[in-house]
Amino acid sequence: MLNNDFNDVVQNRHSVRNFDKNVKIPREEFKQMFEETITAPSGCNLQGWYFEVADTPESLAKVKKYMMKFNDPQLNTCSAIVQMFARVDAYKKYREMWNKTYEEGHITKEKLDEVLRTFLPLYENGTYDMCATDAIRSCSLAAMQFMLVARHHGYDTNPIAGYDESKIARTFNLDPKIYLPVMAIAIGKSNESEKEQIKTIRYPVEDVYHFAD
Ligand SMILES: Cc1cc2nc3c(=O)[nH]c(=O)nc-3n(C[C@H](O)[C@H](O)[C@H](O)COP(=O)(O)O)c2cc1C
Repeated sequence: MLNNDFNDVVQNRHSVRNFDKNVKIPREEFKQMFEETITAPSGCNLQGWYFEVADTPESLAKVKKYMMKFNDPQLNTCSAIVQMFARVDAYKKYREMWNKTYEEGHITKEKLDEVLRTFLPLYENGTYDMCATDAIRSCSLAAMQFMLVARHHGYDTNPIAGYDESKIARTFNLDPKIYLPVMAIAIGKSNESEKEQIKTIRYPVEDVYHFAD
């Protein structure tokens, strides 16, 4: 049953750290959730994200090795962990992506020339750090979108960055210079009791915005 109540999906999301161990999320549903996730925006539409899904006892055991111990309740009860990576080399497909956008008739030749002329050099001449920051920023948006998509599918999540960053890419046989861990997301059906639930608070809204007159 999909939850189409936008307000409930967004406002009642909170980090869940105790899931129903018996829930298995079908891989087809993961595919569907990722389809819904990758509509997220990204810098120049570079889509510099990549998701590794650990949904078997073996793959979850590998993930546990790089996680800090305080994440144990989630790791031992979730249906899966989605490890989100930013791809530093996303810009290498810039030309291909925009050519395809043109060939499929979504932009004019003038627009294609403009995006190739204006933005591609920024990446090609950019530093590693600039490309990394750009990809991390975009992947973070995908991470947020995935957590809301999960709620739409009736699941809950816990974003996790309490881990040994240096070990993550190699765990999945990925190049650590290219694949930068952004966060892991534990997903499953909540099994939290009222008592276990942490009702987090926020700073007063007046403290976090200003009209820049
Ligand atoms: C980037 C990031 C890293 C986080 N890392 C952890 C973590 O390692 N372990 C954990 O239990 N929660 C982690 N959290 C969850 C936060 O503690 C939680 O989002 C915050 O307290 C607000 O609570 P809420 O998600 O219930 O609204 C992380 C959240 C974010 C966004």
